[in-house]
Amino acid sequence: MNMEEINISIARLEDLEEILRLQKHAFRTEAEAHGNYDIEPLKQTYESILSDFDTCVFLKAVYKGEIIGSVKYKALDDRVWLGKLIVNTSHRGRGLGKRLLAEVERNNPGAKKFQLFTAASSLHNIRLYESVGYRVCREYEDETQGGFLMVEMEKYVTSSFSAYSI
Ligand SMILES: CC(C)(COP(=O)(O)OP(=O)(O)OC[C@H]1O[C@@H](n2cnc3c(N)ncnc32)[C@H](O)[C@@H]1OP(=O)(O)O)[C@@H](O)C(=O)NCCC(=O)NCCS
Repeated sequence: MNMEEINISIARLEDLEEILRLQKHAFRTEAEAHGNYDIEPLKQTYESILSDFDTCVFLKAVYKGEIIGSVKYKALDDRVWLGKLIVNTSHRGRGLGKRLLAEVERNNPGAKKFQLFTAASSLHNIRLYESVGYRVCREYEDETQGGFLMVEMEKYVTSSFSAYSI
């Protein structure tokens, strides 16, 4: 796969079903790794992602007409919340996750802080976020997921444009 053939853009309403399907495919590896299939990304309904679409921007990464990656974000004043970073299993490990993170920064040049959550036991996810400048700032139990241990991570941006090169 040539990374340059992957196009990242803002998703439209008609992309949501495909993104939800990709999300359920992508999070299976997380569920397997933690032996917990009772996680929100696997259970999310179309109605629920539709309501996310009202408040968040979804990015999609398209390769040969297929959505192979996505991330959503919400800008609040000078902060940006990110969620549901996903890449199709057959396209992982080639920098697409980092490229999607960089695109969120590029789309929010005025933001001072980027924030996200991930499972405390997802060491590979934490490593990925640390490699692009995020730091763990808080650990907490997620009551909505049976007390699952999570971490909040944040990245402060000092210059007006921070996107790292990959
Ligand atoms: C997290 C995810 C989006 C990364 O996508 P990606 O395109 O493989 O990411 P990149 O190629 O840019 O970066 C790879 C890095 O991710 C890390 N990584 C994250 N998840 C990984 C996994 N399941 N297996 C191997 N490496 C993983 C590795 O540390 C790797 O770092 P390295 O390049 O230093 O070896 C993808 O693994 C995924 O969809 N996972 C399931 C959903 C999920 O957990 N999302 C995060 C929610 S907070």
